[in-house]
Amino acid sequence: MTTIAVLSIKGGVGRTTVAANLAVALAGGGDRVVAVDVDPRDQLALHLGLSPGGSPFGFASAALDGGLGGHTLERGAGRVGVLRFGAVGPRRRGALERCLAERPRLLRELLDELGTSVRYAVVDAAVGPSPWFHQALASCDLALVVATPDAACFATLPSLRAALDAGGRPAATRVLLNLADPGRRLARDVHALLGATFGDELLPITIHCDEALREALASQRPILTAAPSSQAADDFRRLADWTARFDGGRDAALRAVDAQPRGAR
Ligand SMILES: Nc1ncnc2c1ncn2[C@@H]1O[C@H](COP(=O)(O)OP(=O)(O)O)[C@@H](O)[C@H]1O
Ligand SMILES: [Mg+2]
Repeated sequence: MTTIAVLSIKGGVGRTTVAANLAVALAGGGDRVVAVDVDPRDQLALHLGLSPGGSPFGFASAALDGGLGGHTLERGAGRVGVLRFGAVGPRRRGALERCLAERPRLLRELLDELGTSVRYAVVDAAVGPSPWFHQALASCDLALVVATPDAACFATLPSLRAALDAGGRPAATRVLLNLADPGRRLARDVHALLGATFGDELLPITIHCDEALREALASQRPILTAAPSSQAADDFRRLADWTARFDGGRDAALRAVDAQPRGAR
């Protein structure tokens, strides 16, 4: 199983949008994919067509009760298995945060319970630095850090570096630009600055700012079924294609994939 954690240290950058749509795009390739919500806001299930609060069982209870305990995952859009965050009261929430601090790779242990038939786990983690961010970072093979082309996001880059380093580096980190808007000068400038800061770690694939994504969310459908010929759907197909070539975190392999011309992917 390859675990991809979708992370950021700024809110509202599109982590949940990216996690849900990447999971669906990966599942479209025929592989078994699970999407896991490690954010108490519990929004991932909604992005995958499931009703909010539809099940009290989720990551929180699995972590607190020592495992999945035979629970089957819910089936979301695109046949993606979904482990939502789940309902948790304030007392259990405190206990959960302590538990995560004591066991920094508890998420990984839960994912291992799913067995080898699951090819990808896509994790939507709450904004960092936080227990949720560190848990996802320590448990993943690939940290996909979502950035947006605006001054506020750029200003947080030094803290992003610090949070990634403090959490213990996973096998690989890639920065994904979401809400890309090549028509805006500031957006282009920030994109160039991200390239200068992250070098090879900035993914050559971007997710464009596309109204179709907001409309898809309003109808609780992934972009690949709501608007399959949109720009954003195309972006997510390419992101899934890149991810499918990621071979478990070896940086050399990642660089080789990045270097391939688009037509060869
Ligand atoms: N590329 C995009 N184009 C247009 N809207 C987007 C895009 N990415 C995210 N959004 C919208 O931005 C809002 C916040 O996205 P969300 O995924 O909930 O962010 P986060 O999980 O980081 O808080 C949502 O309304 C979503 O539809
Ligand atoms: Mg979110």
